[in-house]
Amino acid sequence: MALIEWTEDFSVRVEEIDLQHKELLQMINELHSAMIDGKGTKYVGDIISRLADYTVYHFQTEEKYFDQFGFSETESHKKTHSDFVKKVSEFKAAFDSKEVMLTIDVLEFLSNWIREHILGEDMKYSNFFVECGIK
Ligand SMILES: [Fe+2]
Ligand SMILES: [Fe+2]
Repeated sequence: MALIEWTEDFSVRVEEIDLQHKELLQMINELHSAMIDGKGTKYVGDIISRLADYTVYHFQTEEKYFDQFGFSETESHKKTHSDFVKKVSEFKAAFDSKEVMLTIDVLEFLSNWIREHILGEDMKYSNFFVECGIK
């Protein structure tokens, strides 16, 4: 069973961004399955790397539009992104050096953070992006 499922509640009404959010949730679910199936460190490490890279890529997409169209909450939103990127890269470094394992607590932190970020912060730009004509 998937840990986190995309529903219409998550839609920011910009297809490009919705697709990226779906991809992020998909990677969290992949990690969850890998943990349940007892996959090895290399396998799990590869998904963590992809998730870390994709998170940066996704945040850059949102921030590009913030800058391009002058979104009013650019600075505070960017700060939440950089805090999360830092957390994920710290976890990745600790995982790679075998100091920590992937646990359900880590997965719940990731999925809760993403869920709350989309439903809270990201929703704040939804109307603005639609009005700017971003698809
Ligand atoms: Fe987002
Ligand atoms: Fe965001």
